Amino acid sequence: MCGIVGILGTHEVSPIILEALKRLEYRGYDSAGIATVNGGALDRRRAVGKLVNLSDRLVHDPLPGRSGIGHTRWATHGGPSEANAHPHRAGPVAVVHNGIIENYAALRTELAERGLAWESETDTETVALLVQAAMADGAGPVDAVRATLGRLHGAFALAFLFDGQDDLMICARRGSPLAIGWGEGEMYLGSDAIALAPMTSVITYLEDGDWAVMTRHGATVHDAQGAVVDRPRTRIDTAAAQIDKGGHRHWMAKEIAEQPAILSDTLAHYLTPQGPALPDGVDFADVDRIVMVACGSAYLACLTAKYWIEGLARIPVEVDVASEFRYREPPLGERTLAILVSQSGETADTLAALRYCKGQARILSVVNVPTSSIAREADVTLPIHAGAEIGVASTKAFTAQLAVLAAVALKAASDKGALDAAALAAHAADLARMPALVAQALLAEPELQAIARNLAEARDILFLGRGAMYPLALEGALKLKEISYIHAEAYAAGELKHGPIALVDEHVPVVVFAPSDALLPKTVSNMHEVMARSGRIVMIGDADSLQTGGDGLWRQARMPQGPHLWAPLLYAVPAQLLAYHTAIAKGTDVDQPRNLAKSVTVE
Ligand code: F6R
Repeated sequence: MCGIVGILGTHEVSPIILEALKRLEYRGYDSAGIATVNGGALDRRRAVGKLVNLSDRLVHDPLPGRSGIGHTRWATHGGPSEANAHPHRAGPVAVVHNGIIENYAALRTELAERGLAWESETDTETVALLVQAAMADGAGPVDAVRATLGRLHGAFALAFLFDGQDDLMICARRGSPLAIGWGEGEMYLGSDAIALAPMTSVITYLEDGDWAVMTRHGATVHDAQGAVVDRPRTRIDTAAAQIDKGGHRHWMAKEIAEQPAILSDTLAHYLTPQGPALPDGVDFADVDRIVMVACGSAYLACLTAKYWIEGLARIPVEVDVASEFRYREPPLGERTLAILVSQSGETADTLAALRYCKGQARILSVVNVPTSSIAREADVTLPIHAGAEIGVASTKAFTAQLAVLAAVALKAASDKGALDAAALAAHAADLARMPALVAQALLAEPELQAIARNLAEARDILFLGRGAMYPLALEGALKLKEISYIHAEAYAAGELKHGPIALVDEHVPVVVFAPSDALLPKTVSNMHEVMARSGRIVMIGDADSLQTGGDGLWRQARMPQGPHLWAPLLYAVPAQLLAYHTAIAKGTDVDQPRNLAKSVTVE
């Protein structure tokens, strides 16, 4: 969610913090702010809206200082306003925060009784006020923060800066990620290593419950019990972290276009001509049930994989959204494998679901960020190797998740003896063709762009699919809603007549994903039911299925003919491009759609 940066530097830090915040803006963009200590004096600048507004403010009203903290916000408590923007200041302390302080209301009552007043509607300001109160009682900064942390309930990453203290920053992590960066006589802090990549490649990831006292010469890390602990320094690949749009207009366009290359790379990690090649510890021989847990698009990748795993390996698969799973507390067992899927590896609900599974089931995670909390806490992790995904709407991470889960399905089938060597090799060969087919699917962009111009005029849009095209329909609707703000719903095509068909009229486009697979005749019947009620069908199919679709289609786009089993990898492309071009036609902010953030580290 929100992004945090901190620097104890040897040069002016505001411009450097601003650059680092740009790399974190995908985490939230409701407002932004920076605080520095200059000649001992704590000061701050804040601005509502995108980072560019803060940047403008700093041109007219510079903020000198060689130590500073910065923040880009995704609002939780209190709307986007300058008063609610971070850093929050109370007397001698400024704080930036990612997460939610759940007991802030009770703490406020207590602070009010002490006569302390607040200026914002945020939970975060309570933290600053608690530190201020402790310091007013005589505590130094470190003891004041230590005492304050003990009072907080909820999930947070925090960074503190103090008036009169040019060489001190204190940070803390509970639930939300935080990374310390090491430089030459400089120290850095960031919500993720990407933010710090241009400054340092040496990173210490704080563990849950850790807090650290930083000066320009190093950091002393304490665990949740207060003991000083030694957390390892790791070297990150800064070249991989320093990425740009590569000439594309939007991150999303770049990330859609790079899918053939990414899928090739991902599959190269997990596939040989003989079949799947997964690391030790991914073994299905004694697994008799799989639970898959994730949020959003990652959940839809799991729903797709259910068709593959059940179909190929005959192992029952349950798929759950993490926010439900974690509180429903379903029974698990020794022979249950839990698969957690997350691009960021930091999604709060998915992480909580993983922790619920601990000690009850074996845990496999599928993540894009191998250093993330979910990766580190799983028994085995399969990185998807998609590279940093910056566009808020997931594209290449979704298809890379599908590629990894396809290899997992083949491994499960192999371990269960459900496929012989020849069948396994045939499926592997089909899967290996998918990157090239995805490249061909991208060539349909002009047709999809033309359709998108029509879709942009609609108020409601339905998406339909059968079999593994059903989760893909859900993904198409999710993507469209997210970035074009058009209301979209997806249904299993056979379910339409059980209610939703009442929505159909000549104003509601119905997008149908329909390759020429065994279910096509059924899907075509459902399309006719729509057309008979003046519904306007957009059919996305291959040459054969489009012919079967008949003359009554309103619009169509052609995909290459490919292996039906792995078709979701292919049809993800038109789902993404329809959403992308509809959003362009509507003039919305494709990479940073309203109300959303990339990494959802709060419940
Ligand atoms: C949709 C999208 C979100 C994420 C969801 C889970 O385009 O990006 O629905 O898929 O927030 O995020 P991760 O995968 O980071 O756990």
